[in-house]
Amino acid sequence: VIIQAPMAGSQGSALAIAVCKAGGVGSLPCAMLSLEAMRAEILAIQAATDRPYNVNFFCHALENLRPPMVSFHFGLPSPELVDRIKKMGAQILSTATTVEEARWLEARGVDRIIAQGVEAGGHRGMFLTDDVTTQLGTMALLPRIIDAVRVPVIAAGGIADARGVKAARALGAAGVQVGTAYLSCIEATTSAVHRAALAAPHHTALTNIITGRPGRGIVNRVMRELGPIRADVPSSRAPRSLWRRCAQRRRSWAKVISRRCGPGRTSARTRTCRPPRSPARSRQSN
Ligand SMILES: Cc1cc2nc3c(=O)[nH]c(=O)nc-3n(C[C@H](O)[C@H](O)[C@H](O)COP(=O)(O)O)c2cc1C
Repeated sequence: VIIQAPMAGSQGSALAIAVCKAGGVGSLPCAMLSLEAMRAEILAIQAATDRPYNVNFFCHALENLRPPMVSFHFGLPSPELVDRIKKMGAQILSTATTVEEARWLEARGVDRIIAQGVEAGGHRGMFLTDDVTTQLGTMALLPRIIDAVRVPVIAAGGIADARGVKAARALGAAGVQVGTAYLSCIEATTSAVHRAALAAPHHTALTNIITGRPGRGIVNRVMRELGPIRADVPSSRAPRSLWRRCAQRRRSWAKVISRRCGPGRTSARTRTCRPPRSPARSRQSN
């Protein structure tokens, strides 16, 4: 299975629908949506496709709309909420960045674990540690997590074409989750500045100075001058709102914000989306 990674701020239902129609699992990130907007986006997906799709949260949840899959970043919500989602009939996925996190998630009833390597674009889903030196690359992390748990494991981080899918499957992944490669699709809401940066040669780094949590983005002036990793950043949304206020004042928000992405290649051309071709589609078990 190829899951389009939920990418808050860079996409909505249009990308999820396009990916579902192309044969993958489209995801809707809900972290930056109001309840009303989330509802409208989910209804749009349900109206457009019968294929399974995923809705994603930074640890909160929903009812009534009965999505087939719900994924979380940064651990899980309360056990009661996890139980309610299961009773709704949804499969639960969550991100692990270490073997310990994978075991923790399995013990709490997660149906599939997303093994997120350190090369992944966007926030690290780390939740049992904030020590970035514990973070392994996808191909090193994946077999360790597969050996440690019984549930199917999805590989995420740096996978951008059929070779990456093949490598992940060779190591035992039940599927892959791909983010950065979808950022240049026409259905994504990626900003023009972000698209231009992705199309040019670029350098990505892990940084915690944009939101207070470690994440991978294209190195920009803020990261060069202040970071990329600092011990004295508040672990909250404060830095981001500070940058937002500064940037709005100077009308250069797009230059200041993090341009999140991993090292995975994206097409320089704007294109309609197709998930990377899986070399083993016919043998998919999940
Ligand atoms: C721009 C961007 C935004 C992201 N936002 C989210 C999000 O809202 N929720 C989430 O679970 N993961 C998010 N991620 C992380 C992805 O789930 C996934 O781990 C990552 O994209 C995989 O690595 P890749 O980008 O190299 O394919 C985001 C990634 C990117 C690039």
